[in-house]
Amino acid sequence: MREDSINFLRCPNCKGQFGLNINKQTGDEIMQGILKCQACGECFDIKDGHANLIFPRDLDKSTLSIENFYDQRPLYDYRPTAFRFGIWSIAFQGTSDRIKWANRLAIHEGASVLEIGVGNGGNLPFIADVIGEKGLIHGLDISSVCIKIARERMMHRNTPTELVHGNATYLPYKDDAFDAILCVGGINDFSDKKRALQEINRVAKAGAKIVIEDEGLAPDREKTLLGKYILMCMKVFENKPPVMDLPEAVEDLKIDWIYQRTFWVMEYRKRA
Ligand SMILES: C[S@@+](CC[C@H](N)C(=O)[O-])C[C@H]1O[C@@H](n2cnc3c(N)ncnc32)[C@H](O)[C@@H]1O
Ligand SMILES: [Zn+2]
Repeated sequence: MREDSINFLRCPNCKGQFGLNINKQTGDEIMQGILKCQACGECFDIKDGHANLIFPRDLDKSTLSIENFYDQRPLYDYRPTAFRFGIWSIAFQGTSDRIKWANRLAIHEGASVLEIGVGNGGNLPFIADVIGEKGLIHGLDISSVCIKIARERMMHRNTPTELVHGNATYLPYKDDAFDAILCVGGINDFSDKKRALQEINRVAKAGAKIVIEDEGLAPDREKTLLGKYILMCMKVFENKPPVMDLPEAVEDLKIDWIYQRTFWVMEYRKRA
């Protein structure tokens, strides 16, 4: 963990500021330590170079099972794995897809960007290419195994990057922190989408671009043979873009359908 990340990180319980206790440091990186909330007194460990800001401490059953799933499959996006998942091979995240996410965020040099459900960090180098060394990346994931890989991926990049083990429904960041927020392939698994979307708006700056994507068939696709087959085999494709769960303070909402209209992309801005 970088010492200056304390300026952005907040207690996921009460949003209070942290005090930092460093136990082991390697160069600029804090490898072990404790973050203590100065408001509610909750303590969170820093281990293996990243903070564990998971909240609530006892995760609900479905979030726990997602954590286990990705802890065991942190390389979910490697081609052979994707092919084993069948339909997900359509949505294989190649370089061109990852560049598109960076483009959709409409970011510029020096921007601060958060990826929620950052996984093993496949999108981060492309975001770093745009925002450069004056930019700032934060990433959060429920899987600590994914976070370790993402951290290694970004270790030798010049863009300051902070990756934390955390829960999308209790974001450990200050209000109005980020110029852009990305969430690719995670939200269908969030146990409380409405809360997660409120949290996203809280940590976004006014006017920030927010891009969210996940599985879900376009209405016309549902009626086709392929659509009916997909729905019969995989319940996850019943999901729809969670427009009804969005907070009021959003504008410029747009829904796109991608990967043969089997995934949706929801883009909007936090109202300025
Ligand atoms: C399909 S992967 C995509 C990862 C990454 N965005 C990418 O494009 O490669 C979805 C990720 O969302 C994470 N995730 C699911 N539920 C989460 C939650 N409640 N909080 C944080 N991350 C979560 C998973 O651990 C997983 O790494
Ligand atoms: Zn607190």
